[in-house]
Amino acid sequence: MRAGGSDPIREAARLLAERGNAVALTGAGISVESGIPSFRGSQGMWAKYDPMEYATLHAFLQSPRKVWEMLSEMVSVCGGAMPNAAHKGLAALEGMGVVRAVITQNVDGLHQAAGSRRVIEYHGNLDELICVYCWKRYLMRERWTPGAVPLCDCGEILKPNVVLFGESIPWLAQEQAEEEARTCGVLLVVGTSAQVSPACDIPGIAKDAGAAVVEINPEETSLSGNVTDIHLRGSASEVIGKMVRLFQDPNMKSPKD
Ligand code: OAD
Repeated sequence: MRAGGSDPIREAARLLAERGNAVALTGAGISVESGIPSFRGSQGMWAKYDPMEYATLHAFLQSPRKVWEMLSEMVSVCGGAMPNAAHKGLAALEGMGVVRAVITQNVDGLHQAAGSRRVIEYHGNLDELICVYCWKRYLMRERWTPGAVPLCDCGEILKPNVVLFGESIPWLAQEQAEEEARTCGVLLVVGTSAQVSPACDIPGIAKDAGAAVVEINPEETSLSGNVTDIHLRGSASEVIGKMVRLFQDPNMKSPKD
């Protein structure tokens, strides 16, 4: 079987098979089916918490206890979440040699939990806490308890090692992400509204370097019909699940063959 024809998922799978070297850029939408709310939209975190009051470095330095109201909810929700079929599907595609890396804006660790090995965490992760005064680091699970604000041995309130607005992207993650974007054959953009810079520049970097951009999102974004070559409108688990099944077909040519 050669993927192709009018089914856009088959068309995307054909591109992946022909070009190889696919990289995925993921956002909050991929974890929605794991029970983690996204940020934007009526059900999103930013409808409940104004990001200017709860998600900037400045806000954390001014009122860390207030910011921890939002952080505690994120840590609890993410801590209880399991990878869904989309995370597992990307890990399976990596195992098949179809996807070579995942760049994620998410801080929930679900790609690694699903078995993805090459994961670039663009906005950090919730596993670690850091003291913004003495720089001591701790594991979240050893220092945080629900309802309490975690403290450093020096007495200051700890910050999760995630990127808040006003902070730089960790330099290694940024370098690696841009290198992956410049050298991939296809960029799969999954579950991101592409509204936050500099992550939203990654699809353009890939496109300018000659990659095809395949977007998986039930909604239109600023990328759709612009940077995006193929827009697969559906939930991440449904679309990626179908892609995995296409690559499991022994007649489908995989980039490894
Ligand atoms: P957003 O909440 O901005 O966008 C989530 C996207 O996922 C939307 O475009 C939805 O249409 C889509 N979506 C929802 N359910 C989906 C599903 N089941 N399958 C596929 N797509 C689905 O989240 P991000 O783009 O990740 O940064 O947000 C980027 C950054 O903004 C976050 O990393 C965070 C936030 O502020 C910081 O806090 C620095």
